[in-house]
Amino acid sequence: TRTQDEEDLPHATKKTMADHLRKYESVFTLTPQRMRMIVEAFKDTLELGLQKPDQIVPMIPTFVFGFPTGQEQGDYLAVDLGGTNLRVCLVSIQGEGKFEITQSKYRLTEEQKQDDGQKLFDFCAECLKTFVDTNLADADAGHELQPGEMLPLGFTFSYPCLQSKIDHGELIRWTKGFGATNTEGRDVAEMFRQSLLKYNLPVVLTALINDTTGTLIASHYVNPKTRIACIFGTGCNAAYMERVGDIPKIKHLGIDDSAQMAINCEWGAFDSFEHEHLPRTKYDAIVDDTSNKPGEQSFEKLISGRYLGEILRLVICELIDEGVLFLGQNTYKLEVPYVFDTAFLSLMESDPTDELLMIIGIFSHFFAVETTLAERQFFRALAKLIGRRAARLSACGIAAIVSKMGYLDEGCAVGADGSLYNKYPGFADRIHEGLVDIFGEKGRNIVTYHAEDGSGVGSAIIAAMTKVRKDAGLT
Ligand code: GLC
Repeated sequence: TRTQDEEDLPHATKKTMADHLRKYESVFTLTPQRMRMIVEAFKDTLELGLQKPDQIVPMIPTFVFGFPTGQEQGDYLAVDLGGTNLRVCLVSIQGEGKFEITQSKYRLTEEQKQDDGQKLFDFCAECLKTFVDTNLADADAGHELQPGEMLPLGFTFSYPCLQSKIDHGELIRWTKGFGATNTEGRDVAEMFRQSLLKYNLPVVLTALINDTTGTLIASHYVNPKTRIACIFGTGCNAAYMERVGDIPKIKHLGIDDSAQMAINCEWGAFDSFEHEHLPRTKYDAIVDDTSNKPGEQSFEKLISGRYLGEILRLVICELIDEGVLFLGQNTYKLEVPYVFDTAFLSLMESDPTDELLMIIGIFSHFFAVETTLAERQFFRALAKLIGRRAARLSACGIAAIVSKMGYLDEGCAVGADGSLYNKYPGFADRIHEGLVDIFGEKGRNIVTYHAEDGSGVGSAIIAAMTKVRKDAGLT
């Protein structure tokens, strides 16, 4: 029997929404078999990136040697340019897994992300200056700067950079919608140093790091079982520790084979351009074609928070065009790219009410359209399909590293961070289910957990590790 609500034409009826859902289920669902095929291709890609330079998934040697000993100490600054915000932190590392952190966040505008790169770094330096003036004035504020003292600074710059030293890095390409000019192909550490000079800051940029590398180090600092770190946020990426002897492309550097070095995989680039391995729907293809970097970051575009809302919006727009949804209503607010925030998917999935009141609110408040219960149930189910696919693909990436490194039998911890991992309901559980689908029961040996703040604390610990190496005469 139909309810009053569903009789309320021209809204879609329950039956047609269920029919449509079946269609989307078939395109967004990943079978265990398909996942295992993705893992195999992923593993080959990771190996290739270690063997040869200039690969699509660049497997970047970071010059972060091994895990911290726990003895690192001192006060360090960290600047974190990651995607949505700019953050400045003062981290006091106290040894034995302990630390304190004071931080400020600054908003980045869309223009700053696209304007001249040097200006972007000038802005970072300006924010650092404000922070230093407030927090380094006396010990009560955080740290009392002594005359002539220069604090070591870790610069967390979460974009793919080719490194030949810990304190240098050439930007391979912007990701996550950034497009600042005059920056790709240049040494971003050097560019930031120029900005630091302009503001006469009492700091020395000692380490340029990626958020995943920072997360790997910070997580291991508090949980030594950690072998892999992942970010599932605006972007999506992973880092792990590799034996130098197993990174053939840096053999010529003559580093001891048995040394350990963190690798920033930049796995978001998996399957870029060729689109051979990933289950790309036509919505994914549109997201890609209309992005500022068509063809690139294929894996990331199916997973990360920057894109999930947009994928859902494109499905809704298709159904509007087909006359299935919102007939007779004005839908122009839904027709603007990227208006549908990934946070809405989280909210829709977590709506606890039978009537799905939160979903009513999202659609009426932000998009000025009214929904029936059947439509709301459909939207929630659609969010679940898209969110679940993202988590299961993430599991494929983790599984590729686990399988390549042989971590399955002994098991390992995976430190994970980012808005999707931390805020999307069930994201971690779905990753774990995915790992069991790939590996069977043994998949339970791989456990993800909410990581320490890698971009702040991790950056500072790496700056501290770098200092220890420098003091010992190593580079
Ligand atoms: C993008 C960046 C990568 C970063 C990730 C998570 O994939 O290219 O460097 O680690 O986002 O922030």
